[in-house]
Amino acid sequence: MNMSTKDYVLNKLLGANGKAISGQDIADELEVSRTAIWKCVKELEEEGYSIESIRKKGYVLHDSPDVLHEAHITPYLKTEQYGRNLIILDEVESTQKIAHDEAQQEVPNGTLVIADSQTGGRGRLARTWYSAHGKGIWMSLIARPHLSIEQAPQLTLVTAVAIIQTLKEVTGLEAQIKWPNDILLNGKKITGILTELQADPDRIQAVIIGIGMNVNQQITDFEDEITSIATSLRIESGNKWERTEIIGELMNQLEKYVHMYEAHGFSPIKMLWESYSVTIGKQLTARMVNETLRGEAVGISENGLLQLKLRDGSIRSIYSADIEF
Ligand code: BTN
Repeated sequence: MNMSTKDYVLNKLLGANGKAISGQDIADELEVSRTAIWKCVKELEEEGYSIESIRKKGYVLHDSPDVLHEAHITPYLKTEQYGRNLIILDEVESTQKIAHDEAQQEVPNGTLVIADSQTGGRGRLARTWYSAHGKGIWMSLIARPHLSIEQAPQLTLVTAVAIIQTLKEVTGLEAQIKWPNDILLNGKKITGILTELQADPDRIQAVIIGIGMNVNQQITDFEDEITSIATSLRIESGNKWERTEIIGELMNQLEKYVHMYEAHGFSPIKMLWESYSVTIGKQLTARMVNETLRGEAVGISENGLLQLKLRDGSIRSIYSADIEF
């Protein structure tokens, strides 16, 4: 079966918005037989699409499975570049690794690598990131922003703001940010961000923005040791969510906020970030490689560093740490 015929039929069905499309018309457009179109419809049904066949009218799409397919993501995009070049894969070791390789092949700004599952998902500080098959969003965006190398680390915070806005837009849920890169819902981690840089001595080549979002897992899908700290959109809301809609909106919000950062600097992002933060105003312990500090988080600096006020009143800028309240 010619895959592109099937993709064409799927695009037509999705674009018809619940109206009937004529099998004969598609057959004529593609110069194939009606039987070839019928075979595509049967294959789509086997993949979980609910398609009604109405005599003399054609085919109507009633429901789609939650599959990562370009035809399901593109309709949600309002972007110029982000998400316009999609690399969609089934099982990979890590989308981050693939994005690094692709970035060196000079793929365009906004290329997005997404996988249904990862066997070696990576988190910050070389931690494992659990990436169950089909339950979450495991993706890495290749961004080529017009920023200096010194401005790159703040992209983690820009991404956090874009994720909060995406969740609000798609699900209505109000998530919060724990410095530097955890997105929390009701105090448990729902999303992690891993930002990595490819740069020449004086210029960014690419920033690989890895996002792992727990979407449709149930409690039993999580390993015992993380149920107290991790959660999913389904657990918190009681609903299943379409991953493709969230991916599309993530692209819209990320492009918007990266453009804002490029055009107006970090100040507008900083204000939004601080308003969504659970960290600011809290007494906390910051564990770093060489020392552990306790103090009150009073804000973030213009370059995204956490400002910790110690007991003696002095302020320390924290670049990277594990935070405990
Ligand atoms: C963290 O919170 O420590 C960051 C987690 C980042 C996980 C994502 S999933 C997609 C991408 N591929 C990876 O291997 N990691 C990131």
